[in-house]
Amino acid sequence: MTLLEKYLGSFENYLIEHSFNGEPASLYEPANYIMQLGGKRLRPVMVLMACDAFRDSYEEAMPAAMAIELFHNFTLIHDDIMDAAPLRRGNPTVHKKWGQSTAILCGDMMMIKSIIFLQNLEATISSDLLSMFNKTAIEVCEGQQMDMLFETRNDVGLTEYLTMITLKTSVLLGCSFYLGAIIGGAKREEAKAFYDFGKNLGIAFQLHDDILDAFAEDAIAFGKQVGGDILSNKKTYLLITALQDANPKQKELLEQWLSIKDYDQQEKIAIFKELFVLTGAKQKAEDAQQQFYNRALEALHTVRLSEAKKKTFHELAYGIMQRTR
Ligand code: IPE
Ligand code: IPE
Ligand code: MG
Ligand code: MG
Ligand code: MG
Repeated sequence: MTLLEKYLGSFENYLIEHSFNGEPASLYEPANYIMQLGGKRLRPVMVLMACDAFRDSYEEAMPAAMAIELFHNFTLIHDDIMDAAPLRRGNPTVHKKWGQSTAILCGDMMMIKSIIFLQNLEATISSDLLSMFNKTAIEVCEGQQMDMLFETRNDVGLTEYLTMITLKTSVLLGCSFYLGAIIGGAKREEAKAFYDFGKNLGIAFQLHDDILDAFAEDAIAFGKQVGGDILSNKKTYLLITALQDANPKQKELLEQWLSIKDYDQQEKIAIFKELFVLTGAKQKAEDAQQQFYNRALEALHTVRLSEAKKKTFHELAYGIMQRTR
């Protein structure tokens, strides 16, 4: 068993032991549903591995790992409402199954539970961890709002896009490492170096997510609606670059499809994918992903840990770059 598999296994056990059983059951059932649909458990594993790297144990980081995974799943429930997404992890989304009102409320409950899990931590570090967590949570809201605002704009630039994905996605990966490192006994500067590693990895991760959203080859394994971003006019790296690099005819075609409301979904997806390739946007997005991955590795390089301990972090980062779901 690899170390990553060990962290994952321990977290899955903890999750089952801490499943919800409150009343009314209809509030808690959707939370158990989404948490038990799986997912890669990337963020809790990051919390545990960062703790283990400094302390040679990780059980004490379990409540923080749980807090982060609960928070992540809460954002997914609400994100799926915002994105009108039908599928999550290969199954119907919470709002499709239980309706929007329950999905909103269940998400709120999970968000608060995540704070309660963080309160289980040692008093000397809990205020530092809570400030980082709260700062991150607000940033995710800002990123999500930007993401929605961009849907109706066709002049979004790459810099704005990078700010948006840093906020909606990558700060939570940075926060996961930070929490784990602090619980493990790292000094603030050491934890901050880990944060930067996670943040850059998170940008590469979201670029990859955007590419997969359009180009996932195995739709079943991907578990989300392929082309969902195209249907919601999401200003991804792909679309922004395609709009910038398109010739006049291609640009007109893109703008026309962005403005019409009544269309054949599969036709729109096919046209956008073709233009993402023809304009070179797909290649540029892949290059940008690689560039942020390299930046992440540079940040990892500055972390003061033995090369032996860094091996698992390299494995995690590489795995993220290769993912198909
Ligand atoms: C999905 O995150 C949301 C994004 C930030 C892109 P993950 O791809 O980590 O989702 P799960 O938890 O593995 O399903
Ligand atoms: C999600 O971004 C970011 C958050 C959930 C905060 P996406 O909307 O791209 O995530 P997916 O693709 O639905 O998982
Ligand atoms: Mg979404
Ligand atoms: Mg979204
Ligand atoms: Mg996505």
